[in-house]
This record gives sequence, C-alpha cells and structure tokens, in this order.
Amino acid sequence: MSDTKEFWDEMWSRMDDTGSDSNKLLLAEVNGIPPGRALEIGCGTGGNALWLAKQGWQVTALDFSTVAVDKARKSAASNGVDVDFVVGDASTYQPEGQFDLIATFYIQLFPEQRRQMLTWAVKALAPGGTLLFVSHDRSSSPPSGWSEADLLSLTTPEEIVAELPGLQVEHASQVCGATVVKAFRLA
Ligand SMILES: C[S@@+](CC[C@H](N)C(=O)[O-])C[C@H]1O[C@@H](n2cnc3c(N)ncnc32)[C@H](O)[C@@H]1O
Repeated sequence: MSDTKEFWDEMWSRMDDTGSDSNKLLLAEVNGIPPGRALEIGCGTGGNALWLAKQGWQVTALDFSTVAVDKARKSAASNGVDVDFVVGDASTYQPEGQFDLIATFYIQLFPEQRRQMLTWAVKALAPGGTLLFVSHDRSSSPPSGWSEADLLSLTTPEEIVAELPGLQVEHASQVCGATVVKAFRLA
C-alpha cells in the first residue's frame, strides 16, 4: 500500500469491484440509528455508501480516487440509488453542513493526515451524531506488500480516542485485526 491517488487509481482500475458489497461492521454499528445525513470518507467503489442510501440515509461519499468514484457513481446509477459522490482528499476536505453519521473504513492515512481528517470530522458531527472509525490495528499483521512507511498508518484504539476531543466514546477496541472506535457528540 502507498497512500497516493495514483496508487489507488491503479488499484481500482485492476479490481473488478461493482461497489455492491458493504462492510458487515457498518451494518452492525449503524443498526438502530435513525437515518439522517451521512458522510463516508474513503468510500472506494461505494458499497457502504450504497447500502446506507438504501437504508434511507442521505449520503455524501468522498474518495480521492477518480477511478473509484467513477465506478461508485455507475454502481449507484445501475442500482437506482442516490448518493453524492465527491472526489477529494480526506485530509483537506471541507464538508458542507453537519452529519448524523460519519464513517471511515480502512482509509489508512499517515498520522498527520489522519489527525487533520479527524479534526474536521469531529467539527462536522451534528449534535447526537455518530462517528465510526475503522482501520488496520497496529497489533495485527499488516496486509501483505506493505512498506515500512505504510506501517505508520496502523492505529490503536487509544490513539484514535485521543484524536476525538469533545466526543463521547461508545466503544473503542481491537476487533479481528482492526481498530474500531465508535463515538458520538452529545445532543
Ligand atoms: C482500503 S480502501 C477502503 C475502501 C472502503 N472504505 C472499504 O472499506 O471497502 C481505501 C480507500 O481510501 C481512499 N483514500 C486513501 N487515502 C485517501 C485520501 N487522502 N483522501 C481520500 N480518499 C483516500 C482510497 O482511494 C481507497 O478507495
């Protein structure tokens, strides 16, 4: 892995991914939250975003890979689902308005970029809103092919909690090799 747009464009061009598959963790964590405005950061080909939209969420989904976003848009169109897919960098993105759910799965940013992302994400969370952060955990074996530099993007639940000032943590743990943090803004 190398966290560049070029890397991900090339990766997504090679993958025959229809964007129809959503993450099981998302299903479990979002279950019971009334739909509102959702933002997915690092949406890839859009499986999670499409699933959220089908549950009634009004979804904005961000990724810096134009190849991924093109595939995601096609997938949304062929599924008759409305999602606002946006091409942009997660570290510098400036969202419009507030969100009832902000979710990010395995975006694997380097620490400074990740802190920038979480800083704006915390501010963009509506009162009562939920933030769900999932990434490869430092305690697990990294995916094959990762360089020494890539390892800097691994996380621990404690690090992520420390980067979410002002939010109440519902749970923060290591689950099947992933850092999983769910936190919310008090209403
Ligand atoms: C491992 S994929 C995960 C895709 C999806 N979240 C999932 O779980 O299936 C990581 C995604 O994050 C995107 N990404 C990585 N760095 C990014 C950045 N700085 N800004 C926006 N997107 C980024 C990549 O283009 C890629 O689509």
